[in-house]
Amino acid sequence: MTKSQLISLLNDMTLDEKIGQLVQVNGNFFLEEENVQTGPISRLGINEDMIYKVGSIINTVGAKNVITVQDKYLEKSRLKIPLMFMADIINGYKTVFPIPLAQGCSWNTEVVKRCAQIAMKEASVAGVNVNFYPMVDVVRDARWGRVMESTGGEDTYLNEIYSKVLVNAIQGNDISKEGNCVACIKHFAAYGAVESGREYNKVDMSERELRQYYLSPYKSGIEEKAKMIMTSFNIVDGIPATINKWLLREILRGEYGFDGIVISDYSAIQETISHGVSQDKKDAALRAINAGVDIDMLTNVYSNFLKELVKEDVLTISLIDEAVYRILKLKNELKLFENPYGNANAEKEKKILLNKENLEEARKLTRETFVLLKNEKNILPIKENQKIALIGPYADNFAITGEWSMFSERENIVTIKQALEERIGKEKILYAKGSNMLTTREMNYILKSEGKPLLKNGEELKTKKKYLNEAMTVAKNADIIVLAVGEHYKQSGEGNARVSIRLPKLQINLINVLKTLNKPIIMILFNGRPLVLEEVENKIDAILDVWFPGTEGARAIWDILFGNESPSGKLNMCFPEHEGQIPIYYNQYNTGRPNINNLRFESRYQDASIYPKYPFGFGLSYSKFEYKDLKLSSTILHKGKYDKITVSVTVKNCGKFDAKEIVQLYIQDLFGNVVRPIKELKGFKKVLIKANEKKKVEFEITEEMLKFWNKDLEYVSEKGTFKVYVGCNSKECLEDKFELI
Ligand code: NOJ
Repeated sequence: MTKSQLISLLNDMTLDEKIGQLVQVNGNFFLEEENVQTGPISRLGINEDMIYKVGSIINTVGAKNVITVQDKYLEKSRLKIPLMFMADIINGYKTVFPIPLAQGCSWNTEVVKRCAQIAMKEASVAGVNVNFYPMVDVVRDARWGRVMESTGGEDTYLNEIYSKVLVNAIQGNDISKEGNCVACIKHFAAYGAVESGREYNKVDMSERELRQYYLSPYKSGIEEKAKMIMTSFNIVDGIPATINKWLLREILRGEYGFDGIVISDYSAIQETISHGVSQDKKDAALRAINAGVDIDMLTNVYSNFLKELVKEDVLTISLIDEAVYRILKLKNELKLFENPYGNANAEKEKKILLNKENLEEARKLTRETFVLLKNEKNILPIKENQKIALIGPYADNFAITGEWSMFSERENIVTIKQALEERIGKEKILYAKGSNMLTTREMNYILKSEGKPLLKNGEELKTKKKYLNEAMTVAKNADIIVLAVGEHYKQSGEGNARVSIRLPKLQINLINVLKTLNKPIIMILFNGRPLVLEEVENKIDAILDVWFPGTEGARAIWDILFGNESPSGKLNMCFPEHEGQIPIYYNQYNTGRPNINNLRFESRYQDASIYPKYPFGFGLSYSKFEYKDLKLSSTILHKGKYDKITVSVTVKNCGKFDAKEIVQLYIQDLFGNVVRPIKELKGFKKVLIKANEKKKVEFEITEEMLKFWNKDLEYVSEKGTFKVYVGCNSKECLEDKFELI
């Protein structure tokens, strides 16, 4: 449609039809067998008439479902404006990739891009028009369950980079084409900074902190022309983000020039009443539309109250028109007016979903997301003739795709045990479960939160002994113990904040018991967040963090454990030594009393270090890399656009494996008119270096990279001295200096 056709369509719409476009419901209205009146309609509290005017559907996927819903809707709708179908395709649709936090650990934009592209290839034929992804919230608190959804982790720069990559991977260069859809950046803004890691909690910080560390990843995605953004559940400076005019109108639309659609998070407009700002639903509707929220996700606030507000002249129709126009425009860009089914295609689903190429590529991509945290005496890779005892609640478990993989099916997932059987043959497998995943108490936290019946206390005691005995028997017959342990997948993800981020108790016990055999123990760690490994770390010889690795994860794990490829991931979020250190991140400030000698009146803890167990950027390889000859092309950088310094370093692979290394560049602004962090990531390169070879790796430093939000909230650089660090992680670096003049 042309612009004028869209405008004339808008002009033909009744007020109810316009409001309908701003309402999102789920597909049950059209799919459920139950009586729609007593079922979904009464649950949501909107009238049936409105159902045939709504603009979009959440989380109905699959070509057949999408086509049915669209048909049923269009049949009864007057203007026949097609629905848009939106869903959360986070780490894959049917072929599931590692969780975003893991993907980010690849520090390989190609890996992140391909995971998203394959996910989109599958999701688009399943009828998805809009993907609620990427989440680009900066996350510095591992207690928050949703850190698993972050690709950039604790660092702003990494989040900026991945934000761009993901928006491009999802949208491609034409959102209407098969394999692409609309990217919805979330959660605007600063959701990752919820106080004490508690879900939906308050966020409060200075505007400088907000701009310096939290906002720019959203902005990066907008610069790549992301067409949608989702508000966050939290407050920002006292006002819920979803009705925060300053955030949504001034910053997002004003400063960033965002002209796409703003969607509320799930019932977030209504929740501004519980926040204690909106008085009632009508008030919430007015605040949200005034702030610039176009779509109300899954409540009746817009559907039931916007009309009244217009009739009472409290709300000008032009605000509604603006929002509706944006929605019509997007539907037009998706070419839904020409073909309301978009790319939904049941025949293609059969060919594309979980096809051989997708799975093979998934296996390859997944290998790069693992982080080798420990490898004493080079126990890994496993040697050909070693007899393995495979033990642990994750050893033969399908639940390795993470909290968001809601569209994947168990039968498509390969377990660790099955993948080992494929490699060495069934008859050679020494396997024992070793323990349940969780104690009943731990399991009951989960069941209770989901309103499910609880287990009887002490239930695990019935099997505990038996599992341990079996584990000891197989372990005794083996040379090495490979232990597949970790968090339950429902201990991370939305609504799963934890104060203790340690391994579940039964699994710690299992490790303690196995340790008595004095055999080497290799731990495959499953987790949706960094963990505190205090109780077990010194009992384990090697730790391979595989996060939640997805459909092909198990095969990829053995590829790495057997040394077909060296691990090459590095942490995008540090592992704390203790929960009491949280929030902990590498780009801290020095304080007036830096921790130098660990004396009482220094900024430190009495009972723990101030450093993480494994720092940001950390990850081992089967090879060893030596960094030498850090050189700057000049020690002076002139202010102004065109000057630059080239930083070079030589990295030698001193080991026996060809391997990839992630070379990291950090800069420290030694003095600023506001305090500057001890270092900030400004660049990285992942390079493949053959055994015994060396490579020169270069970075460029420009003035732009030195800018920050100064005391007057201007984004500027300041003359002065800067330190340059280049190294293998945020702690181990070579360093030099230059002046900006
Ligand atoms: C709530 C989550 O916060 C958001 O990330 C997600 O996209 C929506 N639900 C829709 O499922």
